[in-house]
Amino acid sequence: MHRPIRIAPSILAANFARLGQDVTDAVTAGADWIHLDIMDGHFVPNISFGPDVVKALRPLTDAVFDCHLMIAPADPYLEAFAKAGADIITVHAEAGPHLHRSLQAIRALGKKAGVSINPATPESVLDYVIDQVDLILVMSVNPGFGGQKYIPAVTEKIARIHKLIGDRPIELEVDGGITAETAGIPAAAGVNVLVAGSAVYKGDDVEAYRANIAAIRAAAEKARG
Ligand code: DX5
Ligand code: ZN
Repeated sequence: MHRPIRIAPSILAANFARLGQDVTDAVTAGADWIHLDIMDGHFVPNISFGPDVVKALRPLTDAVFDCHLMIAPADPYLEAFAKAGADIITVHAEAGPHLHRSLQAIRALGKKAGVSINPATPESVLDYVIDQVDLILVMSVNPGFGGQKYIPAVTEKIARIHKLIGDRPIELEVDGGITAETAGIPAAAGVNVLVAGSAVYKGDDVEAYRANIAAIRAAAEKARG
């Protein structure tokens, strides 16, 4: 089963001094989802923004807000992100001892539940939560920073997870180092959602973003045939 290709610009690479405009520009330019990277300076070695920023952006667009929580612990903050307007809340499998509980809590808040795994984490952590998730996010860089290079070793892992998902209604997403040059690699292995930060927000205006998104989408669609 082929789920549609979705491009999810990461606003981590946007201009924070005009963040609202960069969100609406990405949507105008053809983004399917908006990817919001939440970093705590503890689970990852960088700090980004929290639920108040998500809440401030929420009225600007109806696009799906795909919140990627790179925070530990995550459970105390799930409700705040749900209330702020997240549609999908993704937690890291490595971020706490009770992954199943976190995923249940997200669904109990009425949101789609996602699980993310770092490059070094084997896909076997998904075995007993697969029926608790709406999305699996495979990190193709070590989380914390934009502008890093795609790690080729994750491609095989993506293919195995794609097989594991089978006919389940689960979105398979990749995040890190996705450009028009690399997008075809994970797409051929089975991802349908591609996060891209620096490759979308280069060029600084809506027409540049439109060309950037179109190039990533074309590469992904071509690779999956
Ligand atoms: C990395 C973040 C990514 C990041 C992607 O920790 O989760 O979403 O913004 O940035 P690029 O596309 O520049 O690799
Ligand atoms: Zn992310």
